[in-house]
Amino acid sequence: MCGIVGYAGSRAAQGILLKGLHSLEYRGYDSAGIAVLDGHDGMDVVCRTGKVDALDAALTGRGLAGTCGIGHTRWATHGRPSEENAHPHRDCSGRIAVVHNGIIENFAELKDRLVGEGHVFVSETDTEVVAHLLERFYEGDLLAAMRRCVSFLQGAFGLAAVCVDEPDRIVVTRRDSPIVIGAGGDCALVASDIPALIDVTRDVIYLDDDQFAVLHTSGDIECYARDGRQIEPKVSHIDWDVDVAERAGFEDFMDKEIHEQPRVVHDTLMGRLKDGRMTLDELALTSEQIAAIERIFIVACGSSYHAGLIGKNLIERWARIPVDIMVASEFRYSDPIVDGSTLVISITQSGETADTLAAMRLAHSHGSKVFTITNRVGSRASRESDGVIYTKAGLEISVAATKSFIAQVVALTCLALFLGQERGKLDGATVARLYAELNRTPGQIEHILLDTSAIERAAEACTQAHSALFVGRGIGSTVCYEGALKLKEISYLHAEAYAAGEIKHGPIALIDRNVPVVALACRSATYPQVVSNIQELRARTPSCVIVVATEGDEEIRKSADHVLYVPEIDECFQGITATVVFQLFARFIARARGCDVDQPRNLAKSVTVE
Ligand code: G6P
Repeated sequence: MCGIVGYAGSRAAQGILLKGLHSLEYRGYDSAGIAVLDGHDGMDVVCRTGKVDALDAALTGRGLAGTCGIGHTRWATHGRPSEENAHPHRDCSGRIAVVHNGIIENFAELKDRLVGEGHVFVSETDTEVVAHLLERFYEGDLLAAMRRCVSFLQGAFGLAAVCVDEPDRIVVTRRDSPIVIGAGGDCALVASDIPALIDVTRDVIYLDDDQFAVLHTSGDIECYARDGRQIEPKVSHIDWDVDVAERAGFEDFMDKEIHEQPRVVHDTLMGRLKDGRMTLDELALTSEQIAAIERIFIVACGSSYHAGLIGKNLIERWARIPVDIMVASEFRYSDPIVDGSTLVISITQSGETADTLAAMRLAHSHGSKVFTITNRVGSRASRESDGVIYTKAGLEISVAATKSFIAQVVALTCLALFLGQERGKLDGATVARLYAELNRTPGQIEHILLDTSAIERAAEACTQAHSALFVGRGIGSTVCYEGALKLKEISYLHAEAYAAGEIKHGPIALIDRNVPVVALACRSATYPQVVSNIQELRARTPSCVIVVATEGDEEIRKSADHVLYVPEIDECFQGITATVVFQLFARFIARARGCDVDQPRNLAKSVTVE
């Protein structure tokens, strides 16, 4: 989704802005642009549709001299991807420029009024109203104009603006949209996400809703509260390595991130079992509070929702607490039955997903405690939660979630074991046995990654398909939902996932010679039933049958054209190992179809609008 970057300092801004925009490419976008103040009563604005490379090419040889500027990658919401609709947007005079992440919900009404007053609009975007409102309120102080401007705005926004009359500063504000400021000492930066500024500084300031900041080319940063009071900014230090944002020899980030999963599982598990007991100290829950939980409600979107489905299965299985789950975009507009006895768990790798944040606020308003499982320290979701479990996936660049999903599943598994133990449903020996089994998964993932040739051959058989049907049972059906989502996201091949027992009630009608069946039939309590379902599907002559099965199961070969083996593991943990096979399967198909694996069309990594 849209990315913002801004730089105020003594170096040429152009290169820093372009580098920042490249590092935000993972968020998903379809055009890009920059505005640089030249320090001599002028401003250069250059925008291009397509990739940041096109903007790079347009700027080659231009070498803009200015040391203060803003840049943007746009993910189209209002108006198609075009140069006119690309940010930065300017006012009528061309003296003010603004970049925006989010949606101005009342833009149509504001635009009508501004047009009535004689303002001339050149784009179809909601953002352009901000530039014209700033023009309307500008009386020599961009911060004051921004304050008046946002008092008219409804919706979500992260905004950064510059004005040629104040060539040494950038004015920034936000509401329900991520903004982080970089304190570089002799320079100041602003961005939607840390990768855009980590090259220049690791010292960051998280701006809260309705706060303002002024970034000076001297490096000074002023922060203001909603009521106009100047406040002391709280600086946090980022301690990840810059090289996590590099491909490290892999063909794409997705491949790199898939291969990081053994480490991610290991790190997320580390230190969870102490003296034979599962510990989740960060939740600070007393035994009384745990005993008082009557229900759990999980809210999440996308892959995080699928992780939640696995969490539901494990929590109900081990802790015997009823768990509801709903996609956050539905929950936020529903009338959910949650109260003080319900524990709400939000799952969001980015910690910034607009629908998930709204769902969390609704749950809070009903008196529920909200815990979050997230990968981002300092994110909005983590700051709005009563307790946070951090996954240890590290920065994920590829749009399709892989290692962040696996880390969520591991964190939920630990939570389910913890609740089972604390509610007295699992004895110490069972917890220890299950935890030891869980600890085998990093080695098992490594084993799967060692030889992926069978997965590649199965993928080759599917590249020309027009649709694929994934089936499984229990946790296996959830793994199939995630497998089908991966395939859709990155290869644009339509895929459906169904609980295998349901196929007779509709999906079996889809089967023809162009439709492969992908079945998850690892050893589990429902293995015989899944095998029967595979026979039923096979009898309808799909293009091929691909089965993910447990090593040593030779019998399954009779029912499959391709068998993809995974090591034997308790079925509770198959969500961790079998998912890796589906990730690789989707990636091989996407590459064979010539798709951009890391930045699939129309998708965004961090969905900050509803
Ligand atoms: C987007 C991403 C998905 C992700 C979903 C939820 O659609 O492309 O990979 O699962 O958002 O994001 P979250 O950050 O809340 O987990």
